[in-house]
Amino acid sequence: MANLVIVGTQWGDEGKGKIVDLLAEDADFVIRFQGGNNAGHTMVVEGEQIISHLVPSGILQGKTCVIGNGLVVDPAVLLEEIDYLSTKGVDCHPGKIVISERAQVIMPYHKMIDTGREKLKGKNKIGTTGRGIGPAYEDKATRRGIRMVDLIDREVFEEKLNAILPDKNNYLANFLNEETADGDAILDLYQGYAQRLKPYLTDVSVVLANAMRARQQLLFEGAQGTHLDIDHGTYPFVTSSNTVSGNACCGAGVGPKAIDAVVGIVKAYTTRVGAGPFTAELFDDIGDYIQEKGAEFGATTGRRRRCGWLDTVILNNSVRLNGLTGLAITKLDVLGGLKELKICTAYDCQGKTIDTFPSSLKVLGACQPVYETLPGWQEDISAIRRFDDLPANVRNYLKRVEELSGVPVMIISVGPGREQTIVLDNPLT
Ligand code: IMP
Repeated sequence: MANLVIVGTQWGDEGKGKIVDLLAEDADFVIRFQGGNNAGHTMVVEGEQIISHLVPSGILQGKTCVIGNGLVVDPAVLLEEIDYLSTKGVDCHPGKIVISERAQVIMPYHKMIDTGREKLKGKNKIGTTGRGIGPAYEDKATRRGIRMVDLIDREVFEEKLNAILPDKNNYLANFLNEETADGDAILDLYQGYAQRLKPYLTDVSVVLANAMRARQQLLFEGAQGTHLDIDHGTYPFVTSSNTVSGNACCGAGVGPKAIDAVVGIVKAYTTRVGAGPFTAELFDDIGDYIQEKGAEFGATTGRRRRCGWLDTVILNNSVRLNGLTGLAITKLDVLGGLKELKICTAYDCQGKTIDTFPSSLKVLGACQPVYETLPGWQEDISAIRRFDDLPANVRNYLKRVEELSGVPVMIISVGPGREQTIVLDNPLT
């Protein structure tokens, strides 16, 4: 029995959804532990693309999918997603999906504040997904949040809503110059959600403890990426939760000894959506080539992703922060057709070469990438299924990533389909 955490090593969008969907075959439970519907997990099964935002990617494999206490959940989005997946014939009944009673609820005013703040910030905006994630976590930290368990108790819900709403409306109207939220309408709407969500709610920590006692395998699915972590990322251009592997324990209610392995998902190049520093970013034809060939548009907001070379300064930051035991390299096929490839192995910071990730955005902003150049490959590798059949330059690229990171490559993805994968070592088998 092994329990595995999957995390993104860059700024999200590494292709975690596909790898989780694939590895879920050997898991019993797939568990989200942080974030909310700012995430977008893309899976392609038999040519059909399915994107989930809240329901863990294991749902297509028929595994028990868990929404942990560490999430902020928009009930409307979750129910819409359950309906959408159900129309596709996916079993989304209570018991197949379980939701922590302790998860925080995203309220309409969270979304209104999120978008209102971004508007007010103008060019200094963070570029959030506008889903109310930050304002919901803010209320959690100030102990004014509404949890799932409160949502299903009308009296408690009404009391909490009435206590917080004047404050939120005052802020919306008088600081952000936005419309206010209507308490009665929220009450009606959310009571409808409560009715439907009630059968899904449970104490997730107890469910997972029982599962481990029964020697079932847990797969924890991280959302976003390590450099969007609220503590370790490029603050303030980050999301509002801890995205690193350690949070799998807090966000699902398991102890640290429950985790046996941590696989970091590494896109073969780097992308970022939203604002914030990105040292290895490309502003030339190669960046456009990668963006187009990789179809680099956000799964949640449809925004064009910024593209750049692979950066092992950030990869090694992720290796250390997450305790990575293996790597999954995704979208390797996208790099095909380029004469040369570069890997950013260090930063030139005002004449000083550094290989650790600076905390200060001012220092980071002044860093220039130090590149190593490798030969590219012209072959289309998307139909290759065996490591030994990969062109020599592809194998060299992978070997160099292993050398620079000190972590073995376990999985190689050469296309969006489940079958377009080379598994060298599966931590769950
Ligand atoms: P928020 O999570 O909506 O508050 O957005 C904060 C930052 O995280 C913005 O730069 C977003 O673009 C980024 N972000 C949030 N979720 C994701 C994701 O799933 N993939 C990539 N970027 C994300």
